[in-house]
Amino acid sequence: MSTTIGPAAGTLEVEVWRSAEEGHYDTFEVPARESQTVLDVVTWIQRHLDPTLAYRFACRVGMCGSCAMTVNGKPRWTCRTHVARVCAGGRLRVEPLANLPVIKDLSVDLSEFFDKWAKARGRFDPGPRPAREFAMVRPDSRERRRAEAGMDCIGCGVCYAACDVVRWQPDYLGPAALNRAWTLVNDVRDGARDERLRAVSGNGGCHACHTQQGCTEHCPRHLSPTGGIAGLKRAALRAMIAGRL
Ligand code: SF4
Ligand code: SF4
Ligand code: FES
Repeated sequence: MSTTIGPAAGTLEVEVWRSAEEGHYDTFEVPARESQTVLDVVTWIQRHLDPTLAYRFACRVGMCGSCAMTVNGKPRWTCRTHVARVCAGGRLRVEPLANLPVIKDLSVDLSEFFDKWAKARGRFDPGPRPAREFAMVRPDSRERRRAEAGMDCIGCGVCYAACDVVRWQPDYLGPAALNRAWTLVNDVRDGARDERLRAVSGNGGCHACHTQQGCTEHCPRHLSPTGGIAGLKRAALRAMIAGRL
């Protein structure tokens, strides 16, 4: 008869991914505390057991988007993820975000993630003749509500790590960049609507999304990139039928 030995009472057994190439897991024993977050655990390891552990965080309050990691197999923002909610039998496995190159240990290179925002024209463009006055945008207008629905993105990369199409198709722009594009397509002050729709409707654009909602299920800000991408598909199709793309 085999017996599974768990971590000692009051402790967590934490497996942490190490190194960029030929990676492996190191196992650490960490004191369990009330209201402890996964980021608290990683920080405790770095401060008390192994100062060479590389990871990233800044705000610790769910604002900056820099602390995302894979926790027990799922992408999460670690500063707002309580251990009690995700821990299985006192065990945690912490890995870098999927679908992005690892720099070292738990830190990933986000260059490609943000390059894709640029490819999706994910920044406001005032157009050739910027308005001289403040725009009056009614809070209850359809465009305003649509734009606001995707505005709270913190660029954490959780959706990107959760997306199968990103894994299969390296040029796919991904849910965060497309969500940003949808926000701007609905910004009545923006002067590059059709250029943006063109940028997101080619190869690797919105039409590659299979709408299975992995991004939406995992987004810690409860945004719906899937919904925004569906909106982009419709808007691109309408622009094409109208001969503007
Ligand atoms: S719904 Fe689209 S963007 Fe979201 S995870 Fe699936 S394929 Fe990726
Ligand atoms: S859409 Fe959500 S999961 Fe994706 S980067 Fe923005 S906040 Fe993170
Ligand atoms: S540290 Fe800023 S969102 Fe987690």
